[in-house]
Amino acid sequence: MCGIIAYTGARPAGPILLDGLRHLEYRGYDSSGIALALEGPELYVERVTGKIAGLVRRVEGRLPEATAGVGHTRWATHGEPSERNAHPLTDPERRVAIVHNGIVENHEELRASLGDGACFSSDTDTEVLAHLVARELAQGADALEAVRLALGRTSGAFSLVAMPRDEPGRLIAARVGHAGGVVVGHGEGEHLLASDLGALLPHTRRVAFLEPGELADVRPEGVRYVDAGGAELTKAVEEQSVGAVALVKGRHRHFLAKELHEQPDAVLDVLRGRYLSDPPRVELAGIPFDEEGARALRRVVLVGMGTSLLACSVGRHYIERFARLPAEVDNASEFRYRRPVLDPQTLVISVSQSGETADTLAAMEEARAAGCPQITVCNTPGAQATRVADGTVYLRAGPEISVASTKCLTTSIAALHAIALHLGRLTGQLEPELEAQQVRAALHLPAAVGEALELEAQVAGIAERYARYQNFLFLGRGLSYPMAMEGALKLKELSYIHAEGYPAGEMKHGPIALVDESVPTVAIALRDEVFEKMRSNIEQLRARRGPVIAIVSAGDRSLDGHVEECIELPAVDPLLSPVVSVVPMQLLAYHIALERGADVDQPRNLAKTVTVE
Ligand code: F6R
Repeated sequence: MCGIIAYTGARPAGPILLDGLRHLEYRGYDSSGIALALEGPELYVERVTGKIAGLVRRVEGRLPEATAGVGHTRWATHGEPSERNAHPLTDPERRVAIVHNGIVENHEELRASLGDGACFSSDTDTEVLAHLVARELAQGADALEAVRLALGRTSGAFSLVAMPRDEPGRLIAARVGHAGGVVVGHGEGEHLLASDLGALLPHTRRVAFLEPGELADVRPEGVRYVDAGGAELTKAVEEQSVGAVALVKGRHRHFLAKELHEQPDAVLDVLRGRYLSDPPRVELAGIPFDEEGARALRRVVLVGMGTSLLACSVGRHYIERFARLPAEVDNASEFRYRRPVLDPQTLVISVSQSGETADTLAAMEEARAAGCPQITVCNTPGAQATRVADGTVYLRAGPEISVASTKCLTTSIAALHAIALHLGRLTGQLEPELEAQQVRAALHLPAAVGEALELEAQVAGIAERYARYQNFLFLGRGLSYPMAMEGALKLKELSYIHAEGYPAGEMKHGPIALVDESVPTVAIALRDEVFEKMRSNIEQLRARRGPVIAIVSAGDRSLDGHVEECIELPAVDPLLSPVVSVVPMQLLAYHIALERGADVDQPRNLAKTVTVE
């Protein structure tokens, strides 16, 4: 979760950047830096490890006069936290300084393509961007064109701001894919760029949000927007209202929509610093035992409530697959009253966004009394669950205001994936090739979740057609079964439609009696080992005139014409598919709720944190 701030105008840039960085420090603070554009032309670059206060001490009284610059606060993904890996990064000739947030997925390939002559001074993916842009500049490309051409060679989801040395006062911002947003602040004779709206608000309320694939050419006197093909764009500059809630919601109508759309960033943040690419491995703090402790474990029990419980059901697959430990999932409210058999060889993993859910806490107390080691997966720093557990893996998803959970489900699944991989390494059961393959696949998740959000227009159309039905079924098998349950839960709580989630194999044992033309089914039919079984379940529904909305794998056209609606997911590793397959179902529930005029952020009868039994 890196933070970006940039300024160009008539005022001294240094203090504005340092203030902005203080505002962004919550996003990450393992290192930070600023670059200023000096008349000369020349770039002044200063970088430090540790918190922003260290950067302020370093530059105090020594900041050169400059009216344009970029600043960055970092939370390491590629390359350890160190001064050499801190941003801004430059090319060897210092033609350009770059700050960056997100992951350049093909950075190794790009590094190799730059040839032996390219001399790198950091271990980051960001530096590759600086080299690529500098090469275009050296060949005479205009700065905007240089960034655009360089980005054409990259894959991944990220945002950046580039500051060319030879044109003090000019900044180029770009957003690639959905992770890592950029907001452009429009002032009088000055402009700012930031990763968060909040960092701009002390300066201006007039802002424009870059969409994936857009670039901004920013100078004190104005901003030019272009798309990835270089075509000129007209972008609306929005006036942000002063109400605190409106400010937090940004440009979204509802917190739910905001949080749903924050998922690429949230997933990136939960992976950051934990999934390392070189060599691919997981490094997880918060695991309260070493190899010996892990090898003493005999089983794992996962507990939670509601959506967090469904994340546990996915986590169980990961624990069994990667750590080869027997794993069970228990509803925390049932677990505590069942007198479960527990001992110090049973690891209890709890999942709770709030860390304050009464039943989950009670289950954790039960486990503590039995001497079980405990890990909690939690989004709220300092919450009660983090005080009961021996170790915490934080979701880092930021506040989830909407009552219905979205980003905390996808990040919980990613956190459980990380825990299982880490545990597998400790127990010695995880093949190194599988760890490497899963780490690479996980680093692609933010981009894949972003692509899944692009299905919104299609899903909104489906929502319009299906909003008046009174009953829905959701079916899935294997890893898709808990997501079918989640699809049903989201629809129930947001739109008050009766919905049931089932493992598809169970359908013939009762639920199929419900099916006729008035009961649509959302069927998750991905190209995995149970695809053929799902396909026959779909045929059975069709034979009873039940409308089917199928969620299928990228490129799979085999159900076209056999079902009413087909939603094609972006490509994703099968083991990580729940993080992506749930997105269209979240969108469906949201849009059906809108169609029905429901209160999406505060559905009736619900509370965000259930602190009573
Ligand atoms: C559903 C939802 C709830 C929560 C549940 C547990 O959208 O948000 O089902 O998942 O109340 O809450 P936490 O995770 O705070 O323990």
